[in-house]
Amino acid sequence: MAEEQGQRDDGGGVATAQDTLSVTDNRTGESFELEITEGTVKAMDFRQMKVSEDDFGLMTYDPAFTNTASCRSSICYIDGDAGVLEYRGYPIDQLCEKSTYLEVAYLLIYGELPTRDQLDEWVFEITHHTYVHENIKKFVEGFRYDAHPMGMLLAAVGALSTFYPDAKKIDDQVERHMAAVRMIAKMPTLAAFAYRHNLGLPYVYPDNDLSYPGNFLSMMFKMTEVQYEPDPRLEKALDVLWILHADHEQNCSTNAVRAVGSSEVDPYSAVAAGVAALYGPLHGGANEAVLRMLERIESTDNIPDFLEGVKKREEKLMGFGHRVYKNYDPRAAIIKEHVDAVFEVTGKNSKLDIAVELEKHALDDEYFVERKLYPNVDFYSGLIYEALNLPPDMFTVMFAIPRTSGWVAQWDEMEQDEETKIARPRQIYTGARERDYEDIAERDGKAKAPNSPQGFTAPVDPSKGAPSGG
Ligand code: ACO
Repeated sequence: MAEEQGQRDDGGGVATAQDTLSVTDNRTGESFELEITEGTVKAMDFRQMKVSEDDFGLMTYDPAFTNTASCRSSICYIDGDAGVLEYRGYPIDQLCEKSTYLEVAYLLIYGELPTRDQLDEWVFEITHHTYVHENIKKFVEGFRYDAHPMGMLLAAVGALSTFYPDAKKIDDQVERHMAAVRMIAKMPTLAAFAYRHNLGLPYVYPDNDLSYPGNFLSMMFKMTEVQYEPDPRLEKALDVLWILHADHEQNCSTNAVRAVGSSEVDPYSAVAAGVAALYGPLHGGANEAVLRMLERIESTDNIPDFLEGVKKREEKLMGFGHRVYKNYDPRAAIIKEHVDAVFEVTGKNSKLDIAVELEKHALDDEYFVERKLYPNVDFYSGLIYEALNLPPDMFTVMFAIPRTSGWVAQWDEMEQDEETKIARPRQIYTGARERDYEDIAERDGKAKAPNSPQGFTAPVDPSKGAPSGG
């Protein structure tokens, strides 16, 4: 089994002698038997290992949670070595082929595929909650014309919590359901408003006669026509992309949603934290970075030079590598299949040739093979978004729309988990201790260098002639 993958419950049962870990603390010579359950030991079991009565006890150190399970979850299963992804046990390729994004959202949140009646009701509910309060529209209008749409989305999702104050009742099942419906329904509306705000175009209200992706395309691209008619091939491609992006277990943004949600804040605020985390270039921002990278490479002739630069660590090959997948990301393989279908409608894009060639070169290169670096979900998704005429700024927004169902499902699971406590990691303190406060007059002339050379720098003393303001 892959080291990085989620661990399955093998059926429980009483721990046998083989299900333990013997640890000897060489500082004291004391030995401990730690129980192994579901392929893990409990970090708290190390706390009993002390060198003296007043010792705090041993902690584990894992700054990026690279080998720490932060929760138990039954939503999403990944085997990173084998390139397997399942939602609630259903393989991602079957869902992409046979299901729809809204059905998958239901599956993620409620744990089972819906019956026909359940699905109809769910789709009806989502469709009838796509409108946002007019004040949200005014709120979006307040942004600068060139505001990044992820920044607008982040603020707008956070603002939703003020429109639905009852969402604070997180123990109320009806409120939790309504928050799920509202967030999934309104995210495309907010995304489309942000897009049209950047273009200075009037906002288009949702059209209840269209499918979930069809309505999104209408809110984005409708101009003077009475009713927008989405191309079914684009609707399908978008729906598949959204299924692929719906959830991905404890990734950076989901962890943010869970961590913030563990304070028992309302779900809109918790999901706003997820949007913020997704914004970063090492996470959802990677698809935008891939497009900018392909633009810089300019032609297939420049690929060898570009890869040399990557190997010299002058830059990263964006859209490659993954914390969990040490094999071809199964989502990248499915997206690649849909690129052609989209280009059939929109016409071919020369960047696709660069991307395909770049992938070939990298997969043949020892540097990438040795490090198990393969294309991830973001390598090809940006090309589809560009073909849809979306500016790179919108790419991460296109990721946030479907990930909303995963965030909501994970938030709901966390809320119902009896083991949930407020997320509050420990630290290894590395700073000074027990210093005596020096009066400011005594500090003059003995200024110390700031102790964060790459981070913040101490403000320059204006009396020494440094420029002020700005
Ligand atoms: N290009 C070049 N080298 C890379 C890349 C890359 N994209 N990714 C990893 N490496 C190298 C690292 O330099 C490191 O080499 P070393 O062992 O010689 O130091 C080795 O591969 C291992 O990489 P880590 O950084 O330790 O892997 P980690 O799991 O911490 O990072 C991450 C994963 C952040 C995704 C990384 O691969 C990356 O930055 N990729 C580019 C950004 C990207 O595409 N992100 C999208 C991820 S998918 C998503 O979030 C939806």
